[in-house]
Amino acid sequence: MTELKIALIGFGVVGQGLVEILLEQKKELKVKYGLEFSVVAVSDTIKGSIYDETGLDIQKLLDLVKETGNINDYPNGVKGWDSLKTIKETNSNLIVEVSWTDIKTGEPAISHVKAALKSQKHVVMTNKGPIALVARDLLSLAEANNVQIRFEGTVLSGTPAINLGLNNLAGSKISKIAGIVNGTTNYILTEMEKGLGYDEALKQAQDLGYAEADPTADVEGYDALGKIVILANVVMGGNLTKDQVPRQGITKITVKDIEDAKKEGKRWKLIAGAEFKKDNSIEAYVRPEKIPLDHPLAAVTGPINALTYTTKYLGDVTIVGPGAGREATGFGLLNDILDIYRYIKK
Ligand code: HSE
Repeated sequence: MTELKIALIGFGVVGQGLVEILLEQKKELKVKYGLEFSVVAVSDTIKGSIYDETGLDIQKLLDLVKETGNINDYPNGVKGWDSLKTIKETNSNLIVEVSWTDIKTGEPAISHVKAALKSQKHVVMTNKGPIALVARDLLSLAEANNVQIRFEGTVLSGTPAINLGLNNLAGSKISKIAGIVNGTTNYILTEMEKGLGYDEALKQAQDLGYAEADPTADVEGYDALGKIVILANVVMGGNLTKDQVPRQGITKITVKDIEDAKKEGKRWKLIAGAEFKKDNSIEAYVRPEKIPLDHPLAAVTGPINALTYTTKYLGDVTIVGPGAGREATGFGLLNDILDIYRYIKK
């Protein structure tokens, strides 16, 4: 049976979340799903790099990061390999790309993923940049190299937003996808309604680990924009670029706007949507909308996300779940790994 030999490119919150889950469930994953794996390499620009072809001790890696902030004191193995060398020259057959997200350029993640696919290694990732910018190229490259790429965690973290559309709703004739796809802004709007100021609410979202490294990506709608482009292109088969999508964030919403909406029986939400037009083109947008309180999306508060698929045969299908977080996003990667494992075992 094929053993997955995993190399992690990046060892921040999400990468650590994944290996914690792998460690916790090692036996169960083998018994239930037949999954056999080892983590052979970790390469992180800040925390250091380590490679052992026979497999690393995951608990030791996690302990080291907790105690020292890096993995440089790992007792054995080869140290100091950069991300590209780790991708190309380790005996890994699956690359977990969890380096930082740059939604504007997609780098360095695009280079990582291309190198992995060209080296005929499978890829799982939560990095939105590459998928929002060059999903088609990466999917073609994977196919040309006879390997698999999965990225469920790029939208709604581990809540199965992409797989729902691609697999479970295949053939349902999706006409529209819309919802709340950014946890930080939903948290801020919820807290502002409770009476907190914008700055304090944003600070809380940062402290709780929901916000991007540069929270402008959240509050100005760039993160939501990346996610709706992914859904439009990957699930609806579109070919949108970021620049074709009008984007408005939540920075102009005042406490008075929130109170006025309340008086009207409404609630502000940052909504991202993509819809087929009559000519079969796709129109997408990111904008704050006042939602009536009896609408299902109005009840989605805090860092929770929700997406409604409008279909011909089922009408509206809505999924609600976490859109960010260590475990939730780590789980998205695990689910992708299991999916690839099932695929290659066939
Ligand atoms: N900053 C993002 C959010 C993280 O708040 O939703 C998950 O993509």
